[in-house]
Amino acid sequence: MAKTQWYKDMAVYQIWPRSFCDGNGDGIGDLWGVLSKLDYIKSIGVDAIWFSPLYPSPNADFGYDISDYKNIHPDYGTLELFREVLDEAHKRGLRVFMDLVVNHTSDEHPWFQESRKGPGNPYSEYYYWRPGRMVLGKRLPPNNWTSMFEGDAWAYDPERGEYYLHLYAKKQPDLNMANPRVREEVKDIMRFWLDMGVDGLREDVITFTGKTPELPSSYPKIPIANGMKHFVNRPEVHGYLAEFKRDVLDHYDCFTVGESPLTTADVALRYVTEGEDQVLDEMIAFSHMEADCFKTDMIRRPFDLRKMKRAFSDWQEKLAGKAWNALYIENHDHPRIISRYGSEEYRRESGKMLAAMYMLQRGTPFIYQGQEIGMTNLRLERVEDYEDVMIENAVKIASKFVPKKQLLHMVQEGSRDSARSPMQWSAEENAGFTTGKPWFFVNENYKEVNAAAEEEDPDSLLNFYRELLAFRKVQPVVLRGDYRELMEDSRELYVYERSYEGQRLLVVCSFTAKLVRFDAPEGYDLSQGKLVLKNYEQNFVIAGGFTTRPYELRVYLFE
Ligand code: GLC
Ligand code: CA
Repeated sequence: MAKTQWYKDMAVYQIWPRSFCDGNGDGIGDLWGVLSKLDYIKSIGVDAIWFSPLYPSPNADFGYDISDYKNIHPDYGTLELFREVLDEAHKRGLRVFMDLVVNHTSDEHPWFQESRKGPGNPYSEYYYWRPGRMVLGKRLPPNNWTSMFEGDAWAYDPERGEYYLHLYAKKQPDLNMANPRVREEVKDIMRFWLDMGVDGLREDVITFTGKTPELPSSYPKIPIANGMKHFVNRPEVHGYLAEFKRDVLDHYDCFTVGESPLTTADVALRYVTEGEDQVLDEMIAFSHMEADCFKTDMIRRPFDLRKMKRAFSDWQEKLAGKAWNALYIENHDHPRIISRYGSEEYRRESGKMLAAMYMLQRGTPFIYQGQEIGMTNLRLERVEDYEDVMIENAVKIASKFVPKKQLLHMVQEGSRDSARSPMQWSAEENAGFTTGKPWFFVNENYKEVNAAAEEEDPDSLLNFYRELLAFRKVQPVVLRGDYRELMEDSRELYVYERSYEGQRLLVVCSFTAKLVRFDAPEGYDLSQGKLVLKNYEQNFVIAGGFTTRPYELRVYLFE
């Protein structure tokens, strides 16, 4: 089938369904709620919706542990209701992408239930089962890998009398993708949704789906993701993806984006370089999300702008002319960006600056629910009040080197739950998210920070998102232009240029509340440029430059 590259011009809105909008009053977000907000989503100026998992799931990892790939969780609605949402989205010109989670299933999935019965049944090789090692009369796991979420990557199953591999939670056993029958199941799931009219797939930790066949131990042992080299970006993965493409994806005009933790731009190019070997349209990078932490959001460090700039520029430069970027600064796996790289004190200013900073780069912008109204981190009083499966283990590991009173701070600023509180729709009770009792805590700031207030104020962050997306859509220099970073050494300013057939865009972003002198780079006369986006009302140019105000943004267009 002839493929078009419509995905290059689009912008995507991500819904984490549990916290988006509750339509039936049980306190849990659902598809009735989504249906009522489609016009709102469309009004932002996006072209597509990506749904985090909507499938039946025991919710050990809130939907990323799937027990039925071809249905909708009863909390969210029914398949029929999903079809209606799909239809209504399409009527509004919004495409719909599903989350494809096939590195693992739930342990409550029928495949796993059958598989644990032992050898001889059709599902016995669907997962990684190993007998384990006996050392001095003690039973030990088959190797020393550690999971992302819960200590050892192996759990003993008394029913089968063997260990199974789980790179994430115990309730998320890894599928054995090396088994051709498992790959047939994946293709079947893909076809199920694509045949229904879904327009694309976001492929969860797809780069972990290949494992070194012997599953060897790895040294030195580290507390999280030990064994990485045996399960991250193994050569098998490209083969699996090529097979999915050949047998399924090539037969649909659909979009694919792969999530790729622990992956550099060079490695990403193996999958996304346009041409014969391309197996995914885009990759979800991680390095730009590590400018205030060490590898994981939980290990906090002071924000380092140069680290962030290097990460963005690295992907922009390496993919230039070869592949297409996925651009994001928030999703359900990271705390809120204003609380991290911006400033809650200058919420609106920094929110606008951050939005322009990433969306004016080359690639497809993704926006996470609530980002467009400037939601900030949820902060709970007690670690026990947090829900996310990864917190307990992270706190256990961190308590070895983080003082006790800092542990709560670590969770408040670093946990995924900080960005999973209910969407703030209005100043009404429970932020207008539900008429019932919300399943999780609502951020206390909802009286000031909510969509209704943003809607009324012409100068709001929400209206700035609209302006920015509308601008991007009609400007070839944003959609297609080359990217070049300027003033790389600055620790306060992120400055870059986009250029395309005689058009140039100069993007100036301040990442500090301090006043910083900005001198126009060589070849730029600001008085000749048109100030097209900004976050302060009055804007003067003095002696070829200006002194930045807190988190100031200025975007000049030269044509
Ligand atoms: C991805 C998802 C994350 C989930 C993990 C395991 O990283 O984005 O939310 O916990 O995969 O499925
Ligand atoms: Ca509900």
